[in-house]
Amino acid sequence: MANLEQLKKQALEAVKQSKDIKNLEELRVRFLGREKGELTKILRSLGAMPLEEKKKVGPAANALRAELEQALDKKSAELRVNSLKFEVGLDITMPGTKVGVGHLHLLTQVEKQVREIFKAMNFSVITGPEAETEKYNFDALNIPKDHPARDMWDTFWLRQNEQLTINKKLLTESKKLKVKSEKLLMRTHTSPMQVRFMEKHKPPFQIIVPGRVFRFEATDASHEINFYQVEGLMVGRDVNLANFKFVMNEFFQRLFGKGIKLRYRPSYFPFVEPGLEIDIEWKGKWLEIMGAGMVHPRVFEAAHYNPRDLQGFAFGLGLERIAMIKYNIPDIRLFYSGDLRFIKQF
Ligand code: PHE
Repeated sequence: MANLEQLKKQALEAVKQSKDIKNLEELRVRFLGREKGELTKILRSLGAMPLEEKKKVGPAANALRAELEQALDKKSAELRVNSLKFEVGLDITMPGTKVGVGHLHLLTQVEKQVREIFKAMNFSVITGPEAETEKYNFDALNIPKDHPARDMWDTFWLRQNEQLTINKKLLTESKKLKVKSEKLLMRTHTSPMQVRFMEKHKPPFQIIVPGRVFRFEATDASHEINFYQVEGLMVGRDVNLANFKFVMNEFFQRLFGKGIKLRYRPSYFPFVEPGLEIDIEWKGKWLEIMGAGMVHPRVFEAAHYNPRDLQGFAFGLGLERIAMIKYNIPDIRLFYSGDLRFIKQF
């Protein structure tokens, strides 16, 4: 028993003082080695001991073996960390660098809010192509060639070879599509999806079309060459302006909070009659927020609907404008600046 006590002191002290892994492994062999380990020897001698002594020494020796193994393992882990630190210059105990986690861009967030509100009112969300034909962007919307109304939308036209590649792609995507080399442009609004959708669907329906649009304009605090719109279209047997006002009230109250005030002003767009614009009251000022109106009979005709049987309303809102009002953003160009100081605020 006295030997054991002595051994315990020696062994634990030696482990504590040990400075490297090699030395530590030598200690492991010295005390616990299978053949000549000092503790192993004591454990082996247990069999020959008188019963009384065995009862005392046995448990103590086994406990020491466990304690020693633990001490060796712990020290070995410590030494490994240290040797990495010195040999490789790597300190694995140092706190790590935080990995930046991204988040949705403010515009994407606002688009999501808008989608959710309309989805809750049973609108479907659809999308369409950014490169459009002259037909859907203009002609089908009652904006004839050489008509001054076209000047409302300054347009990026695509070059002949760009048109050919896009047309070819369309052709392989849909075998049925008869594609001549149609004149293509970057859509100036999301309204072309009105006729595209009506050609393939029967009323009644209500849809929204979020998407990117392009204008050939000089940029300033409130104009960008590309921006995002959300088109809305609801068509049925007797969908009317009162229905439109109800939907708008719901929408703006859910987006900006109850008590928001709207103002409807007569306006002009070739594809609606009557046409109107909506302003909202924000911080004591009236701000123009969307164009809208009752779908023009010519648009129904372009979609092969009979205008005598149907009525509908359409609207187009600018997403940036909504985000700018809601989040107090002074300049539309910030959205596309890629400036993290801006992006991270939302
Ligand atoms: N497309 C119009 C624009 O971009 C907005 C609009 C949409 C107006 C639908 C009326 C109806 O200016």
